[in-house]
Parts: sequence; structure tokens; C-alpha cells
Amino acid sequence: MTGAAGQIGYSLLFRIASGSMLGPDTPVALQLLEITPALGALEGVKMELDDSAFPLLTEIVCTDDADVAFGDADVALLVGAMPRKAGMERADLLSANGGIFKPQGEALSRSAKRDVKVLVVGNPANTNALIAQQNAKDLDPGRFTAMTRLDHNRAMTQVAQKLGTPVTDVKKMTIWGNHSATQYPDLFHCEVGGKNAYEAVNDHEWVDGTFIPTVQKRGAAIIDARGASSAASAASAAVDHIRSWTLGTPEGDWVSMAIPSDGSYGVPEGIISSFPCTCTDGKYEIVQGLDIDDYSRGKIDASAAELVGERDAVSELGLI
Ligand code: NAI
Repeated sequence: MTGAAGQIGYSLLFRIASGSMLGPDTPVALQLLEITPALGALEGVKMELDDSAFPLLTEIVCTDDADVAFGDADVALLVGAMPRKAGMERADLLSANGGIFKPQGEALSRSAKRDVKVLVVGNPANTNALIAQQNAKDLDPGRFTAMTRLDHNRAMTQVAQKLGTPVTDVKKMTIWGNHSATQYPDLFHCEVGGKNAYEAVNDHEWVDGTFIPTVQKRGAAIIDARGASSAASAASAAVDHIRSWTLGTPEGDWVSMAIPSDGSYGVPEGIISSFPCTCTDGKYEIVQGLDIDDYSRGKIDASAAELVGERDAVSELGLI
């Protein structure tokens, strides 16, 4: 894990070490990467992990060397990133993150297991994943994914609360596109208690004017309320993403994962965009054959266009 001394790391590490991510039978060795000035804080996190006496936890390595952190890694959680600061232009943000994700892609390529599962959490997550992927010349590009599971989980709860049902009744939620305000949470293919969610809600104005913007802007709402960005829920979503990818998705359901597009649903090939995915035997697959109406088409296209713009920007900066 990168950014391991940050606020997501503080939540995520304890969930992983307890077995939530890989199941109760898989021992966990943690290889934690931080920038040199944060190694002291990271040591404190290691002390707390030690003090938890997790039965599954076999080893904790703290380092500022990416090749050590990614050495023989089965799972790589790329959490550390450069946040947007006041007055920062988009090109500055992409360039600063390129300075992190380019060398990390190169290090993954040199040092990680060939079938490493990479999840990029650090924002802008989809494009950071693309930068790492494009610089990992010796790894299969399909190993690189970005996180839209938090958006997926947020959307599930919004619709469950609207209908007054438990969240476990909600199946087949889909987040399309970028992990940004252009993402498209899709209720047309979602089911609640076995019924179509859009029909069960039966209120287009709520879907268009409340549901979609609430999910799209939830990250900003958390910052306003908490004075800090979502951390425990982001960590929980990272656990969910890797658990689904590794242990599989249940029959009759799917999850949202940002993965390299193969051109499905008209999303330009190569960009890392969110799709409905099923997972079996450690492999993800895009759910095919969903009907996309004009309303959804416009929203999927808009988010894909934003990702193409980000790809072109990092390409111009020479990062991919
Ligand atoms: P944080 O600022 O608390 O922690 C980030 C950590 O990364 C810091 O400890 C920092 O020292 C470290 N770091 C910076 N550069 C690094 C490098 N080159 N190598 C290793 N470590 C490095 O941030 P927080 O709250 O943990 O969030 C991390 C990222 O996750 C942010 O980019 C945030 O925007 C993103 N995020 C993504 C979500 C998603 O749904 N995809 C949801 C919530 C947050």
C-alpha cells in the first residue's frame, strides 16, 4: 500500500490485517510505502498494527523505496496521491500526480508479481491508474484498475433509503465513467428486491435531480460536513473492490470497477472507465448486452469524454 500513513491508510490497514479483504484463511504481509518525511508517522501505524495482534498478520515492512513496497506484491493499493491545492490548475495536478504514478508504474513493472491486482484510489484515480499502467511496460495492462466502488456503495444506500429497503436488497448497481462529478450512477439496470429500481422509484425528477447529483457530489458533501475527505468509507470500498476481484461476485449481481475499456458500450478503448463487472476465479469481465437508452448514452458519453480529455492532457505532458 502506498500513502500508508494517510487517513485512508489508517482505516484500510486494520481492515486488511483483520482478514476483511482476502478472507479469513489468507495470511497478510503488509509492505507499506510512504514519502521519507512520513516514515516516522508510518512507524506509529506499524506499532498500532503490532499492538492489535492480528492472527493473520505475518509481516509489516515500512519503506520509502517503491521496489521494496511492490516486491512480489499480489495486491497493490495505490492510495497516496497529490491533492489539488488552492489555485492549482488541472495540468499542475495531473503533472504532480504523474511524478508519483509514473515511477510507481515502473516499479510495479520491475518488482510486483506478474498477476498483481492493482487498485488506484488516489485522485484523479482513473487517470493516475492510466499513468501507472502505461509506465508498467512488463505488466498486462488489465492488471490496473481504479476505484469507483465507493460511488457504487453510495448509490446503493441512496436508493435503499429512498425505497425504505435494506441495502442488501439492492443488486446490479452500476457506476459508469470517471470517479468525478461526471460519473453516471445508473438505476435503469439496478434491481431492488428483484424489481427494476428505476420503476420502483417511479420518480424521474428524483433520479435526475436528486439521486444522480447526490452520488456525484457526495465526496464534496463529506468534506463540508467532516472538514476532511471521506476516509473510512473509501477504505471500506477498497476492501470491497479487491475482495470482489479476488473472491468473486455473487450469482445475479455485479459490481462497479474502473478498468481498461475494450470499447464496450462505445467507451473509447484504452481509457480506464467504470463498468458493471462480474468477477470469477480472480478475473473481471464487463457485463455485456445491457440496453442503453438516449438518457444514459448522453451521460456515459460525457464522462468518457472527460476521461479522454484527461488522457490527452497527460499524453501532452509526456506522462504516458
Ligand atoms: P492523506 O493526505 O491523508 O494521505 C495520503 C498519504 O499519501 C500521505 O501520508 C502522503 O505522505 C502519502 N504520499 C504522498 N505521496 C506519496 C508517494 N509518492 N508515495 C507514497 N506515499 C505518498 O489522503 P487520504 O485521505 O488518505 O486520501 C488519499 C487519496 O485518496 C487522495 O488522493 C484522495 O483524493 C483519494 N480518495 C479517493 C477516493 C475514491 O473513491 N477513489 C475516495 C476518497 C479519497
